[in-house]
Amino acid sequence: MEKLLNMIKEEQTQNGYVSEEAMNHISQDLELPLAHVYGVTTFYSFLSTEPLGRHVIRICKSIPCFLQNGESVAASLEKNLGISPGETTTDGRFTFELTNCIGACDQAPAMLVDDELYGNLTPSKIKKILQSYD
Ligand code: FES
Repeated sequence: MEKLLNMIKEEQTQNGYVSEEAMNHISQDLELPLAHVYGVTTFYSFLSTEPLGRHVIRICKSIPCFLQNGESVAASLEKNLGISPGETTTDGRFTFELTNCIGACDQAPAMLVDDELYGNLTPSKIKKILQSYD
């Protein structure tokens, strides 16, 4: 299992996502059913089977963030990016996803942009954060 996960993570790091072709190769290399490789790849939210934008925004949709106006922050992201959760901007700059708790409940509402954590978000902070990414 560890070897499988390492190979999938390596593919994600090198290409930004795990393609069907890559999953086939991994399946053959490790002599595992393709369905198993696919199942592991789709289980983890930090892995993707689709090409992602240069920056991946993951906003927390769990209850503590929701109760601190997380929904209005997510709406502000949608408005500023012009895309819905699960989509990538046409210029390939951002992918925007909803995720479960990211361990920053004390700073709710919170989101990650790549590996950077942003907490105590408000709709007005969103535009400035987005502008700091190329
Ligand atoms: S509930 Fe949002 S970071 Fe934990």
